[in-house]
Amino acid sequence: MDKWFEYKGALFDPRMFTKESLDVIPDYVIRDDDVVIVTYPKAGTNWIIEIVNKLLRAAGKTDVTTEDIPWAIESTLPQFGQPGHVILKDQPSPRILHTHLPYHLAPNMVTNPEGKVKAIVLMRNPKDTVVSSHHFNRKMQASLGAPSDVTPWDKYLQCFLDGKVMYGDFYDHALGWWQMRDDPHFLFLKYEDMKKDLSSVVMKIKEFLDITLDDVTTASIIESFSFANLTSAWKTSGNQLKTFIARKGVVGDWKNHFSEPQSEAFDARYRERLEGTGLQFDFE
Ligand code: A3P
Repeated sequence: MDKWFEYKGALFDPRMFTKESLDVIPDYVIRDDDVVIVTYPKAGTNWIIEIVNKLLRAAGKTDVTTEDIPWAIESTLPQFGQPGHVILKDQPSPRILHTHLPYHLAPNMVTNPEGKVKAIVLMRNPKDTVVSSHHFNRKMQASLGAPSDVTPWDKYLQCFLDGKVMYGDFYDHALGWWQMRDDPHFLFLKYEDMKKDLSSVVMKIKEFLDITLDDVTTASIIESFSFANLTSAWKTSGNQLKTFIARKGVVGDWKNHFSEPQSEAFDARYRERLEGTGLQFDFE
C-alpha cells in the first residue's frame, strides 16, 4: 500500500495502473448499447458481471464470456497485458464495461449519459466491504511474494476510514455515483438485496436491459449464481484471482473483525457522511 500513487484524490497500485491509462478514461467513447458496471472494490463486482454476461448470452445478444471481460477498463491486469479499455475496443457490441473509478474520474459519457447507454451501480455496506477488501489485499500481497507488506487489520481499517485505500474514500465514491440515482440510464443495486432475494434483483436487471427469457431459463440462471455454485465454477476455472475473490459471500462478517470501539468509530463516520443523503445500507 505504501507504494501506491495518488491520482486526483484516489490511490492506485502502479503494478496495475498508470497515469496515462487513467488520463484517457474521461474521454473514452462509450457505445450506445454498452452496459457499464460500476462498483467500489469488493461490492460483488465479479458476481454482477457474471449475471449480466449470462443474461446477455442467454438472450443471444453476445458470445463473449466473462473470461474475456477485463476487470476495470482503467487497469492493466497481468493476464491481459494491456489496459482494459484497449482490449474492449475490438469487442463486438453489446459490450460489458466495468469500472471501479469514482464519479469524477469516470468516462464523461457515463456521467453525462445520452442515448441508450445503461449503467448498473452495485454497492455494498462499508463494514463488509472493508473486511472483504482486507482479506483480498492480504492474499494479493502474499501471492506477490511480499508477506512483509501485508497490512494488519487495525491499520487497514484506519486506512479505509482515512480514504487511503485503492480507488479512494468509500463515501466519496458512493455519494459521487449516488448523484445519478434518478437518471433513467442508471440502475442502483445493493449486495445485501442480492443476498436477500437474488431472484427479484435478476428480474430488475432483466427489465432494465430489455431481456426476455422464459421462466425455466431464468430460474436456472438464478440458481447458477448462488455463492456455492458460482464459486465452485470459479475454482475449477483455474483462475487464481477468482479463488481469492470467492471468500465467504455473506452479509455481517464484519462482526467477526470489528472491535466495539472500531465499530463505534465506523458508525460515527457512516452517520456523518450519509445522514440526509437518502443512501443507507443493511449491515446484517
Ligand atoms: P467476501 O470477501 O465478503 O466473501 P468483488 O467481486 O467486487 O471483488 O467482490 C468480492 C465479494 O463478493 C466477496 O465477498 C465474494 O465472496 C462476494 N461474492 C462473489 N460471488 C458471490 C455470490 N455468488 N454470492 C455472494 N457473494 C459473492
